[in-house]
Amino acid sequence: MRSLLIAATFLCGGAIAQGTSKLYPPGWNKEATKPPMGWRSWNAFGNRIDEKTFEAAVDAITARVWNEPKVSLADAGYVRVGIDEGWENCSGTDPAGGMRQHDEAGFPLINVERFPDMKRLVAYGHSKGVKMGWYLNGCACGEAKERLPNYRGDVQRLAEFGFDAVKIDGCGAATNMTYYAQLMAATNKTYEIENCHWGVCGADRKFHNPDGASCPTEGWCPFNHFRTSGDINAGPMSWFANLQTTVRFLDASAPLSRPSCWAYPDMLEVGRVQGASFAWQRAHFGAWCVVSAPLVLGLDLTDTANLASVVPIVTNPEAIAVNQQWAGHPGRLVAQFDPPAAPPAAPAPAVRRRAFSAGEASAGEGRPAGEAALPSAAKAKVQVWAKPQPKGTVAVYVVNPAASGNAARVSVGFEALGLAATSASVRDLWARQEAGHTKGATLTVEVAPLDSAFLLLTPAAA
Ligand SMILES: *[C@@H]1O[C@H](CO)[C@@H](O)[C@H](O)[C@H]1NC(C)=O
Ligand SMILES: *[C@@H]1O[C@H](CO)[C@@H](O)[C@H](O)[C@H]1NC(C)=O
Ligand SMILES: *[C@@H]1O[C@H](CO)[C@@H](O)[C@H](O)[C@H]1NC(C)=O
Repeated sequence: MRSLLIAATFLCGGAIAQGTSKLYPPGWNKEATKPPMGWRSWNAFGNRIDEKTFEAAVDAITARVWNEPKVSLADAGYVRVGIDEGWENCSGTDPAGGMRQHDEAGFPLINVERFPDMKRLVAYGHSKGVKMGWYLNGCACGEAKERLPNYRGDVQRLAEFGFDAVKIDGCGAATNMTYYAQLMAATNKTYEIENCHWGVCGADRKFHNPDGASCPTEGWCPFNHFRTSGDINAGPMSWFANLQTTVRFLDASAPLSRPSCWAYPDMLEVGRVQGASFAWQRAHFGAWCVVSAPLVLGLDLTDTANLASVVPIVTNPEAIAVNQQWAGHPGRLVAQFDPPAAPPAAPAPAVRRRAFSAGEASAGEGRPAGEAALPSAAKAKVQVWAKPQPKGTVAVYVVNPAASGNAARVSVGFEALGLAATSASVRDLWARQEAGHTKGATLTVEVAPLDSAFLLLTPAAA
């Protein structure tokens, strides 16, 4: 969760221990073959959590009160609930000085006023069909001294309490991810494991696995989803900035984000993005869908009115399908452009949300996305992302992050999109309806400021 310790974005270094990749190759635990979906407490509640927070979340996520016919968020795929920071009791005495969240024997000290019976809470989730996640190596207690018994105590309790998943943060001293993996494997139960080491991949002993493996390589991915960035927040451009940190894991031919090993730009802020219109909240969701990011809701599920306002976004089955389906690639940045200059003086015109104009090749043809180009939010560009879908179809997401100005008119050739066709039919995934055909092998779309288009292109029969 915390990004406070990270001043800049680090790029992945190379040092990887040979032995570990043989023990835990990608997909070793068979978890998260599709991007995991659920809810976790941090964005809405921070440290202010107790067992009631999670009972309420389990109740809310399983309540069949949305749409027609009535479904729950769990029916839509959000079957996980995760405890984040805040369960710890920091009163263990650290021989190295400072507080810690373990006892002498290495067992985690739980704040029993907030969480009187963790096993019962997990069982409550299970009774409603919800998979329950825990959280380890957190930030609250400032645990500074690594002790091997702490790893063993953590994993023993993880198993005893019956958890199905765990987020392992990078704040504490338990940074040997290989050891965690080894201990979890020895319980004979699998856990969907999140590596929350903020995308730090180099050889910094303090922040991550000394084996150099808190970010994946081709032969190594001990954890099922890995953070690519510091914490997201509810600022209007935070999600867009975090989205950019996935780019380095989405190589066109050898992506490091893949089944059981997903690049994760953090929990969703959908429903919480400050000052955001429906369209900008939706743009956030579409971005996570097109890069196969785990879809972990972060809003307060008990604020029914606010939740209702974004349910049409987060339960959109066609958007979710793009996220969950695998056709060989997790999705990638295809092209980016400067947004059109804002018109002088006059108030922003009421632009159409978006419109297609099929066919014509355009001077705006996308330049390939530069590998090193991670645009800052201030210089945010109009971006085109694409993810292959089954049967030769391709999902295309176009986002216009400009705060004002004219609609961005974007034309992208099929070759850049990875679409082998001379023309295609277009489905608007936001509207969930057909939206005509392209005339040639170019998609042209207009996207208003702070809006997105999310389309499925199906090759037309030759
Ligand atoms: C925290 O742990 C200490 C030491 O075991 C214990 O005395 C105290 O009651 C615990 N407090 C809470 C809130 O769990
Ligand atoms: C991390 O744990 C693994 C597995 O137990 C072990 O082989 C390795 O030596 C540990 N690394 C460090 C730096 O302690
Ligand atoms: C895990 O399975 C192995 C092989 O079946 C067995 O020897 C071991 O005792 C099991 N461990 C646990 C914790 O159940």
